[in-house]
Amino acid sequence: MQKLIVQGGAPLSGEISVQTAKNAALPIIAACILTDEPIIIENCPQLKDIDAMLNIMRHLGCSAEFIGDNLHVCCRDVSLNVINADLTGKLRSSIFILGSILSRCRKAYISHPGGCEIGLRPIDLHISGLKGLSVKIEDEGGVICCDGGDMKSAVINLDFASVGATENLMMAGALLDGETVIVNAAREPEIVDLAGFINEMGGKVSGAGGSIIRVTGVKKLHGCTYRPMPDRICAGTFLAACAASGGCVTVKNVVPEHLFGITERLKKTGAKLSVRGGTVRITASGRPKAIHKLETNVYPAFPTDMQPQFCAMLSRAMGSSVIVENLFENRFGYTTELVKMGANITVKDRIAVVAGVPRLHGATVKACDLRGGAALVIAALSAEGCTEIYGTEHIDRGYEKIEQSFAALGARIERVQS
Ligand code: EPZ
Repeated sequence: MQKLIVQGGAPLSGEISVQTAKNAALPIIAACILTDEPIIIENCPQLKDIDAMLNIMRHLGCSAEFIGDNLHVCCRDVSLNVINADLTGKLRSSIFILGSILSRCRKAYISHPGGCEIGLRPIDLHISGLKGLSVKIEDEGGVICCDGGDMKSAVINLDFASVGATENLMMAGALLDGETVIVNAAREPEIVDLAGFINEMGGKVSGAGGSIIRVTGVKKLHGCTYRPMPDRICAGTFLAACAASGGCVTVKNVVPEHLFGITERLKKTGAKLSVRGGTVRITASGRPKAIHKLETNVYPAFPTDMQPQFCAMLSRAMGSSVIVENLFENRFGYTTELVKMGANITVKDRIAVVAGVPRLHGATVKACDLRGGAALVIAALSAEGCTEIYGTEHIDRGYEKIEQSFAALGARIERVQS
């Protein structure tokens, strides 16, 4: 077992380049099944969630290996279309692969990915969307059995703009005759990136980034080399950490407009932000100002994946902040750990009231989910004294060597075997 040891209280300074986006790379890897030709995903992040997805790909018969920072995937033979629970249990987004397997094999049997630490995370929108493409689907004892023998394109109206369901349907439609139209599609930048990838393979996807996506099926997709977008949530994590600890940090390799929902809220805390090309620079000192009301919602609003990191930062704010979590029903679990560090947070259902305290103190805490873990790191960096953070495996699902990133910004943080 590993833990992070953080000696808090030092301001952050320096430059950091963000990794490629996990949530862009995952569906792009799943989409590799749409072609039997080799794909190179440049600068692919090396993370636990990516490993879990690659294990699923290998299980299906694809080859996947890193050569340096580039991931080489080839799905020449997709010999299996069954994914059992030990694989789907490791990665909620394993459900994203359904659309591409169906597209390629017409049949798929995949164990239910189940719930997770942040909420129930049902898959009804994925299922109803695929049924709309004439896939026959039965749930047999927790295994989702899909028969896409009669699959055909259609207009699918999503009841909610789900990121994963939109991605699944884009992949499902890529090789179908005719036009698949996704109405009320998710508009996240990762959707635009997946569309870019499918188009780079010779597909025809238009409208991504808006609410109506049109996927015109093509006969065959071909191999390509693709570099997914930078990780907007990692960028936001570094910015929030600087707002919490003070200092001056330049975050490089970002798409500033992807960060708008985050940077606008950071300005409310009194931090100064400036954008130049693909970099965002933040300067902060003293305690942040409270944010009267911070509400998560779908892009371009404030992202749920930044809610815990902001909560950690606002724990030391001057005044009280109210945080409303609109996406997931159970995404405040980490707050009990922040309270151990001296934070004053009251949670009721989907609302957290954060009464800022002058200082947090070190404690022994445990990460129970990915972004909640990042929140503990931010709190530890801005706290007085030493914090030990267990549950690093959750943090490693989405951040590449987080201790090295923060150490490069002058933080006193190390990973040790416990
Ligand atoms: C993606 O999850 C991200 N994961 C999540 O990132 C992110 O929090 C989420 O989008 C929202 O932005 C990946 O891209 C791999 P959704 P996804 O379907 O696609 C409900 C992180 O920390 N819903 O848009 O699973 C669902 O319960 C993570 O990196 C249904 O009701 O999110 C939730 O309340 C965690 N039925 C809401 O929609 C469905 O069939 C948003 O989910 C599907 C979703």
